[in-house]
Amino acid sequence: MKILLSGVLPIVAPALLLGLIHGAAWGWATAALGLLLIVLMQTRRLTVLAAWLDAPDRAGSVPDAGGTWGEVFTRLSRRLHHDARRVEEVEAELQSFREAMDAVPDGLVILDASHQIQWSNRAAGEHLSIRLPRDDGAIIEQLVRLPGFADYLGNPDGQAPFILRSKAARSRVYAIRAVPLGKHKQLLVSLDVTDAHRVEAMRSTFVANVSHELRTPLTVVSGFLEHFTDGGVMSAEQRLYFARIMSDQTKRMLSLVDDLLTLSRLEAEDAPASEEEVEMDPLLAQLLSEAQSLSEGRHGIQILCHGPALRGNRKELHSAFGNLVSNAIRYTPAGGEIRIEWGTRDRLGVFSVQDSGVGIPAEHLPRLTERFYRVDRGRSRETGGTGLGLAIVKHILLRHQAALLIESRVGEGSTFRAEFPAWRLPPLA
Ligand SMILES: Nc1ncnc2c1ncn2[C@@H]1O[C@H](COP(=O)(O)OP(=O)(O)O)[C@@H](O)[C@H]1O
Ligand SMILES: [Mg+2]
Repeated sequence: MKILLSGVLPIVAPALLLGLIHGAAWGWATAALGLLLIVLMQTRRLTVLAAWLDAPDRAGSVPDAGGTWGEVFTRLSRRLHHDARRVEEVEAELQSFREAMDAVPDGLVILDASHQIQWSNRAAGEHLSIRLPRDDGAIIEQLVRLPGFADYLGNPDGQAPFILRSKAARSRVYAIRAVPLGKHKQLLVSLDVTDAHRVEAMRSTFVANVSHELRTPLTVVSGFLEHFTDGGVMSAEQRLYFARIMSDQTKRMLSLVDDLLTLSRLEAEDAPASEEEVEMDPLLAQLLSEAQSLSEGRHGIQILCHGPALRGNRKELHSAFGNLVSNAIRYTPAGGEIRIEWGTRDRLGVFSVQDSGVGIPAEHLPRLTERFYRVDRGRSRETGGTGLGLAIVKHILLRHQAALLIESRVGEGSTFRAEFPAWRLPPLA
């Protein structure tokens, strides 16, 4: 209506006037001329519009056109600006979504119907060695060439994931699942399960070790019991001898079970149940008397206590220190020297046990605190060892934020040192 009034009225009015004055022909001629002018003007503006639409001025200025055309330009420009802002917002959202997906620790890969990679996140790059944009559109089976993988993708089992073991230096284990995405696509999800696999391997080794450790004494005991029950003639000395061996083996099983229980209790909690100021003089005196009874006079044993009280769990500390002392005695031949010491060094509390025993070859040192790890199996068994002592020591020290340091020379002896942090000692006066 507005266009009609503003565009057509200026032509109709003069045409009518001229028509009335000079006759109808003049009127029509004026009208035709006016309409021609309008068409020319509109065409020109349309050309300007077309040119402007090809390259709209982002700064916001619209072509100079008055009236209705001016309004059309302004509205178009406003809409273009609005759209441009939306596009920027969507791009920013997409970018932050991509960043979020890259921060996810699990690998994610989108595959199309023909298993071509459409998208993947950073973790997938690490797990499956996918590198975008290089591998964009690549067929996943050609990148992950592992026996069974293509079969799994063709028929992904809802229950069991595909287990992938990387051949890289840090050999890792990944569990890969394929889930349907929409009608034809698939989403691959890869999870790093290295730690879980390690724990599972450790668990089964542990069970095998425990069974093995229990089996030997049980075999001995049951063999002797057969002797007793099959009615053969046996002297009183023989009977006593067998009974003594069976008793030794039973004790061995008992100490193994005791150590296992201690370990499992220690592993179940992070921190000691209770802590107190442990006076070290009486503790060292107790360790000395235990050491003397184990040594039966075969070693020279010395104690030195020149440190303050230690904050910790008395029972646990006694167990850890006692283990170190009993090792020193068991792995030191008769006539050797053992020195048990508590003191401070560089503000740390240091408990150490030094012996002049058999020593430990350097290659064994890093593994000594592993459960059931022994340098000399025979010697450990003969002296009633379970192979769990140092594992218990390590756990107790960890719970006290202490470090275990071992120095040893084959044939010369060993020093086991537990270093406690300064805050476990009373503040300096
Ligand atoms: N003071 C030591 N001197 C020499 N070897 C030691 C000493 N302490 C520990 N070991 C070695 O470390 C191994 C593990 O010690 P531990 O865990 O206490 O088990 P075990 O019950 O055999 O003593 C021992 O079997 C022994 O080979
Ligand atoms: Mg031991």
